[in-house]
Amino acid sequence: MIMSTLQTLLEALQQRNWLKIIDEPLDIYLEIPHLAYVEAKLPHPKVLLFSHPIDVKNGTVFEMPVVMNMFANFEVTEWIFGTHPDAIASEIRELLHLKPPEGFMGKMSMLSQLFNLKNVPPKKLKKRGECQSIVYEGKEASLDRLPILTTWSEDGGAFITMGQVYTQSLDGKMQNLGMYRLQKYDAHHLGLHWQIHKDSSCFFDQYREAGKKMPVSIAIGGHPLYIWCGQAPMPYGMFELMLYGFVRKENAKLVKSITNDLYIPHDVDIVIEGFVDPSTLRIEGPFGDHTGYYTPQELYPVLEISAITTAKSPIYQATVVGKPPLEDKYMGWATERIFLPLLQTTAPDLVDYHMPENGVFHNLILAKLKTRFKGHAQQIMHAFWGVGQMSFVKHALFVADDAPSLTDYGTLTEHILNRLTPRGILITSGIIDALDHASHETLVGGKLGVDATGAIQPKTCEVISDDVLEERVSSRVPTFIALKQYMTHTANPITVIQYTKTTTAKTLFESLVPLHKHLRIVVFVDECHNDVANPYMLIWRVFNNIDAQRDVWLSPFIGIDATTKNRLDGYTREWPKDVDCDPTVIDNLRKRGIIDCDDALIHAYQLHKKRLDV
Ligand SMILES: Cc1cc2nc3c(=O)[nH]c(=O)nc-3n(C[C@H](O)[C@H](O)[C@H](O)COP(=O)(O)O)c2cc1C
Repeated sequence: MIMSTLQTLLEALQQRNWLKIIDEPLDIYLEIPHLAYVEAKLPHPKVLLFSHPIDVKNGTVFEMPVVMNMFANFEVTEWIFGTHPDAIASEIRELLHLKPPEGFMGKMSMLSQLFNLKNVPPKKLKKRGECQSIVYEGKEASLDRLPILTTWSEDGGAFITMGQVYTQSLDGKMQNLGMYRLQKYDAHHLGLHWQIHKDSSCFFDQYREAGKKMPVSIAIGGHPLYIWCGQAPMPYGMFELMLYGFVRKENAKLVKSITNDLYIPHDVDIVIEGFVDPSTLRIEGPFGDHTGYYTPQELYPVLEISAITTAKSPIYQATVVGKPPLEDKYMGWATERIFLPLLQTTAPDLVDYHMPENGVFHNLILAKLKTRFKGHAQQIMHAFWGVGQMSFVKHALFVADDAPSLTDYGTLTEHILNRLTPRGILITSGIIDALDHASHETLVGGKLGVDATGAIQPKTCEVISDDVLEERVSSRVPTFIALKQYMTHTANPITVIQYTKTTTAKTLFESLVPLHKHLRIVVFVDECHNDVANPYMLIWRVFNNIDAQRDVWLSPFIGIDATTKNRLDGYTREWPKDVDCDPTVIDNLRKRGIIDCDDALIHAYQLHKKRLDV
């Protein structure tokens, strides 16, 4: 039997012992996604194949297996790319710096580089694709055939989470592939969550202005690079499948959808085709998102399904997003590496950059710079905040090229804290990710840039023990809960203070001014689900929760308000809930011996609140 692209890859993964097959029947409602969520947090996560997905509520047994966690770890991700992402970045760098060749060997090497580019444009095939082996149209084209997962108990429903969304501009000249979540409203309608800044949203505006229906085709499965390309921040107007051809050194091969004019890869597992009536929007969400918080309900376009086609033995691919780390860590790692040379075209003195997983990409970027003049770091901060999706970044920390590796977090933090001064902090505003919840309003908010490229600062802080500091702080903070100091050996120790929020953090900051000689950076967190001794999750929450313009104060020490905002702060939006697992589902999977999840893991990644308060 001929195997599909995804089946072939899964077999190869199994041979390498990177695949875990779960034969136990598991519910598409919470059970399968919870298991994948926990797997991604284990020391050596694997790709998961669920061979018996069931829908307990509706009594459905699916023949179609579910694959999750495809980008399971660094090794699997590199294997999917066929090479280390840095090697792809080097190829891009060489192309960007192509100069007229010197000598015969130079000409030959340039020829081979250019020859590789022949793989870039996708090829349109005239025949039907493997993904069109089985065709359902009209009422038969039902989403109920697919094991679409409900990830979180407070989600607005079931969502397709790894859909490759293919669209084209009104004039048909531009194609786009974007990865957006898709809400199942009923058997024949999907919500299309392309945010306002994204390319498909721009195409959608063209159809709306023209009053025409917009064709959309959604592919699932096939080579995992299709979905990686869908999330890659390619410039507007560039079809992401060109990147697929460049990386794989093989053109993407496309076939025409059956009921609309869009082209989709021939070897995907499932295709959902249809049209969007731009005059109708519908409430989408809530959905537990990759920020680790629920995103609120908003209006989004709706796809009316005209056909569903599948391969002969299709596999349904899905992901789970929530609190880090998850598989988007590895997808993001590849993106970060591969896009460095492109970023360097705007910021040539940028040596390297890195987005730590617990900074959930747009909340925190670390950047290394070869500084050549005063204000250089500020120049690049502004460049970042003006470039494509990089402009969503809320907090950017810059170091000079003598700094340790950007992934050596402990030493790098010391390096930054030893060079940090209030003068090196730039606070401004700009566009922010549509998912951000910290700012008073959506889409625009505070930006914070730290220039730590300068000289080492003297250590002037009079450090006292946690116990003594706690005594002094708690007498000034009536609802004090806990305190912990970090990096006390540096010029800028960090003190995390947890309290029950009956007053604003600003009021507490002011009441602590008499203690200023013992304080350099104070981070306020509230009672909700925080643990002052868990820096990984603190970083995640702090960078999520602050709008620098409102929440950062620079004198007489640096104060950062990372609490949940409410009316006390003048915040009138609804503050989102944490994305938490359902403890009964986790307990049940543990009792059945299907999940490897002890209390330490639940606590370390704040999977749910049940045991955290004890
Ligand atoms: C797991 C995952 C889920 C995502 N979900 C969405 C989403 O629902 N809506 C959205 O606009 N972007 C989402 N993104 C980000 C987009 O895929 C990304 O911004 C992409 O570059 C958009 O492509 P475009 O610029 O061609 O629209 C998601 C990314 C990942 C990795």
